[in-house]
Amino acid sequence: MKDVLLYEGKAKKVYQAKGKQNQLVLAYKNDATAFNGEKKSSFNGKGRLNNEISSKIFNLLHEAGVKTHFIDRLSETEQLVYQTEIIPLEVVVRNVAAGSITKRLGIEEKTPFHPPLVELFFKDDELGDPLINDQHALFLSSITQDELQEIKDKALEINQHLTRIFQCIGITLVDFKLEFGRLTDGSIVLADEVSPDTCRLWDINTSEKLDKDVFRQGIGDLIQVYEEILDRLEEKV
Ligand code: C5P
Repeated sequence: MKDVLLYEGKAKKVYQAKGKQNQLVLAYKNDATAFNGEKKSSFNGKGRLNNEISSKIFNLLHEAGVKTHFIDRLSETEQLVYQTEIIPLEVVVRNVAAGSITKRLGIEEKTPFHPPLVELFFKDDELGDPLINDQHALFLSSITQDELQEIKDKALEINQHLTRIFQCIGITLVDFKLEFGRLTDGSIVLADEVSPDTCRLWDINTSEKLDKDVFRQGIGDLIQVYEEILDRLEEKV
């Protein structure tokens, strides 16, 4: 008997894990979307690569003491995670200017941010995930002011770990998006995924883009660059 499908998102399917209370199976899809679903495609192998990369990064974050929803990688495209109530915020950390902030605020691409910036977006496809402030976040989600601060502090702590991990493999972590979820005991942990779909990753020496921007901008072979990230993680970390 197959697991019960609970939800299908743009990049993953979510199933109830059979016989395991409060656990889910995330199945990574080969689909790629950009610009809030306006650009769509599918790449053989993308689900496997993101599952493997995200699993590896969650394990490295666990070693660094960060609590996440991740339990285990189950197969090429599936992972087992704890069920969480997802907090409807996309928490973006930026070390270097790229993407939406360059257009929104007229900041030149590659401008470094010291200290890194944390931005909050409301996770709502119909509204196009708008940028929001702290008061909006408190109004739109079920978190307290202290929990919002905890989320922002965790995002910056995770940034330090991820920056170090990627630096080890010759990559600048430009920016990334995190999602957090509440476990049944009420605590808040890192959820969703950390992959080249959700991070901007530039080669330290050449500035070559090794992330979903190759698809967004049509400037390269997505599978080849995601393979490159996985190979470097497997070799050096
Ligand atoms: O588009 P923007 O520059 O705001 O994206 C910042 C970072 O968040 C990028 O690494 C992008 O891949 C990620 N992101 C994401 N999912 C979204 C929006 C942004 O993973 N819905």
